[in-house]
Amino acid sequence: MCGIIAYTGHRPAVPVIMEGLHRLEYRGYDSSGVCFVRNRELRVVRAEGKLNILEDKLAGMDISLATTGMGHTRWATHGAPTENNAHPHLSFKRNLAIVHNGIIENYRECKDILLDKGYLFFSETDTEVLANLIADEQVEGMPLIRAFARALEKADGAYAVALLSPEEPDTIYAARQSAPLLIGSGAGENFAASDIPAFLPYTRDVIFLEDGELARITPSGVDVFSIADLKPVLKTMTRIEWDLQAAQKGGYKHFMLKEIFEQPRAVADCFAGRVDAKRSAVRIPELEGRPVPSRLRIVACGTSRHAGLWSRSLMESWAGIPTTVETASEFRYRNALLTPGESLLVISQSGETADTLAALRLVKEKGAASIGICNVIGSSIAREADTVIFTQAGPEISVASTKAMSAQMTVLMLMALYWGETNGTLSREIRNRALAELADIPAGLSGVLPTLESEAADLAARFASCKGMFFLGRGQSFPLALEGALKVKELSYIHAEGYASGEMKHGPIALIDPDFPSFFILPHDAHFAKTLSNLEEVAARKGPVIALTNPPKDGMEIRGGESWLLPEAWGPLSSFFMLPALQLFSYKAAAFLGKDVDQPRNLAKSVTVE
Ligand code: G6P
Repeated sequence: MCGIIAYTGHRPAVPVIMEGLHRLEYRGYDSSGVCFVRNRELRVVRAEGKLNILEDKLAGMDISLATTGMGHTRWATHGAPTENNAHPHLSFKRNLAIVHNGIIENYRECKDILLDKGYLFFSETDTEVLANLIADEQVEGMPLIRAFARALEKADGAYAVALLSPEEPDTIYAARQSAPLLIGSGAGENFAASDIPAFLPYTRDVIFLEDGELARITPSGVDVFSIADLKPVLKTMTRIEWDLQAAQKGGYKHFMLKEIFEQPRAVADCFAGRVDAKRSAVRIPELEGRPVPSRLRIVACGTSRHAGLWSRSLMESWAGIPTTVETASEFRYRNALLTPGESLLVISQSGETADTLAALRLVKEKGAASIGICNVIGSSIAREADTVIFTQAGPEISVASTKAMSAQMTVLMLMALYWGETNGTLSREIRNRALAELADIPAGLSGVLPTLESEAADLAARFASCKGMFFLGRGQSFPLALEGALKVKELSYIHAEGYASGEMKHGPIALIDPDFPSFFILPHDAHFAKTLSNLEEVAARKGPVIALTNPPKDGMEIRGGESWLLPEAWGPLSSFFMLPALQLFSYKAAAFLGKDVDQPRNLAKSVTVE
């Protein structure tokens, strides 16, 4: 995810900004840039690749006199990771520059209007559109802050933006809507940044901007206003006591926990820009103009495979596409037969998993169409698939994958809706309901995650010492059961089995005893009654039972075992609550047992060998 650092004060700005960019490197990036004012003109320096390339470019320049400037590391979303698309972006009139993190959803519409007015664009980014939108709002005598606020009012979507203009060379303007941005307040110097580590060596006093707020930052002070009416907003200062490492984790103990809590953002970002404002149509430009597959072959590894399995019933029931899901390491060695019109869909967070990549190359050799779902721009799978849809989960640092799966599920669900619409296999009611309900998931999830965390801790303390455990589910809860078991194994080294709840009586039920708990994924869906019978079979054999379920209602009470109550959601969306609960349980079990949560033994984040 992009990183922003802006500085205004008494020091040479560029070295402070470069240091800040290095401290934001953990967020992942593929290009970078800085800008500052010299001789009342904006100077912009940008580079593709790592920060040392930007530093080499800056080395030959006289940068010592600038005491105000901004820098950016870009994690590409709109447009390839090239120097041209890197931030900062200048307005066409070159009278202001901005850096931006997030997605301007209506940038195409805004760009068309600006093109008609004669604006020219030099990049493929939504950010350049926003820069010109601000410039376009400026009329003679209008303060820059007003033009900035008016343009932001026209921009839909998520953003954290910082703005610099030679008209006010010592001032940084910064605004936020659904993307992180905070202000560091020092003595005679102030900062705006995506995250605290960027300015932690200089100040520990932080003002957290809220959505809909805009700040004017000068060396001597910070004023915050509401974007809607520019009325001043009174803010309080928070003193940060974390050390640098803790700050990179945003105050969370581990990256995994931080990433679990980032899932509302990941889902919202995958949704943004792909669904229209009325929540009635899905747009996936990467699939436009391509025939709907007559069959779909999903191939992936680990958690990504579980996301694929989860999507199978949606692909079949909504999109009408017969779908099979396979493990990449098996698929690649069995000379699989593909039927005409069949497409391969490879899913990979890293885009580098060797077996998944090999499966992709194999299928391409056979001449079949391929689609990738990836989280890393520029990765091998992203480059080699015929078309690639990016999950917008941001960099995932913890080895155990968490937010990538929620993001993959979001994208897969949108694809099933898109193909269902194209195929005419999906009713308008289902599509509208699915989109409306999915739009509500981020807020619902944000609200419930803190409670789930403490409930997970309590369960982990009681069950982490058991000799093994089952995770059981039916339908779309079956892949979640597989994922729950995988997470427990990966993180806490407890033996855990994920099983289809209807299948466990064919053998595995022999394992049940009082030291072998079973976690049932049991939302109030069409499979509830059947899975409940399986739960009762386990309870009758004195196996401890924990049902991840919804608050009881008529005909859906659970007898036997205990219930972990999660919010009820429509159709497949209950999975967006079940999954984080499972992740939190495995996290807490590992933490309880004192395991290395972010770097479990024997595991690698990206498995680039067979
Ligand atoms: C490794 C990771 C897993 C991940 C799997 C697939 O095994 O430890 O967390 O699910 O690779 O990775 P991918 O990047 O292809 O999604």
